[in-house]
Amino acid sequence: MPAWAQSFPSKPIALIVPFAAGGPSDVIARLVGDHMGRTLGQQILVENVAGAGGTAGARRLASAEPDGHTLLIHHLALAAAPALYGNLTYDTRTAFAPVGLINAGPMVLAGKLALPPVDAKAFFPYAKLQAEKLTIAHAGIGSNAHLCAVLLGQALGVKFTQVAYRGTGPAMNDLVSGQVDLLCDQSTTAVPQIQGDKIRAYAVTSLQRLDVLPNTPTARESGTDLEMTIWHGLYAPKGTPAPVLDKLNGALRAALKDPTVLERFKSAGTQVFPESDWTREAHAKRFNAEIAKWAASLQAAGITPQNVN
Ligand code: MLT
Repeated sequence: MPAWAQSFPSKPIALIVPFAAGGPSDVIARLVGDHMGRTLGQQILVENVAGAGGTAGARRLASAEPDGHTLLIHHLALAAAPALYGNLTYDTRTAFAPVGLINAGPMVLAGKLALPPVDAKAFFPYAKLQAEKLTIAHAGIGSNAHLCAVLLGQALGVKFTQVAYRGTGPAMNDLVSGQVDLLCDQSTTAVPQIQGDKIRAYAVTSLQRLDVLPNTPTARESGTDLEMTIWHGLYAPKGTPAPVLDKLNGALRAALKDPTVLERFKSAGTQVFPESDWTREAHAKRFNAEIAKWAASLQAAGITPQNVN
């Protein structure tokens, strides 16, 4: 082990969030990062490196010094990206060292309040007829919101008019103000807006209803074949020494046990992984499986990697 690894961390840690501030990845990063920083005795400073569906932030991590002082929080889009982007400058399979899994949760399909359908029953037939006229916001190709919009379109046999943002934080602002019609966002940031009557929930993408949104049906309940669970994990660059990764994993575990963190997750309809999945190995296993899963399912849907800037 290099001598410096023993005194890690020796300075503040940069935590890259690959989407805009105010979105679900940003919310999870600040919550978990703040707790980890206290455990490690160094500040964890969130840096929003948004763009290209989360691949700009991933690129930043791939070229960072592998000393544990630069980390990335990312979700399943990191694993889906090779099936969508033909011009990634890093090899997704080898560029990152998984530190640990964080949370898993559903997406919520929501509409602006001015949209005519008031519930799922009215929404799905309306969407089938009006899809091309309806704008659906997302956070770039391969983001959760984009994949949800694609899966929804496939389930209904229609194509919505997509509008890309640098994260669902700004996309949600435009949904609330009525600039876009629809957004399928993570429960983390959708639930508070729904509870505050700022937007209307049509369906959740989990197989069961959420305790925090008991009146919102699942997409399946509404006869629409849409199921999606998203997950976040923490990454360091490849080549980061194992003792540093272990120390980071320990700090992450402490955050995932914290009652305040757990309460915040619960109230947002998302959950930490079971403790048996908190190892670095479990994260690596899931990550590799998801790379293969998204490659197969996107290829089967006729979607091929494109050069995206
Ligand atoms: C965000 O934080 O903006 C989201 O994680 C983007 C997404 O993948 O939908």
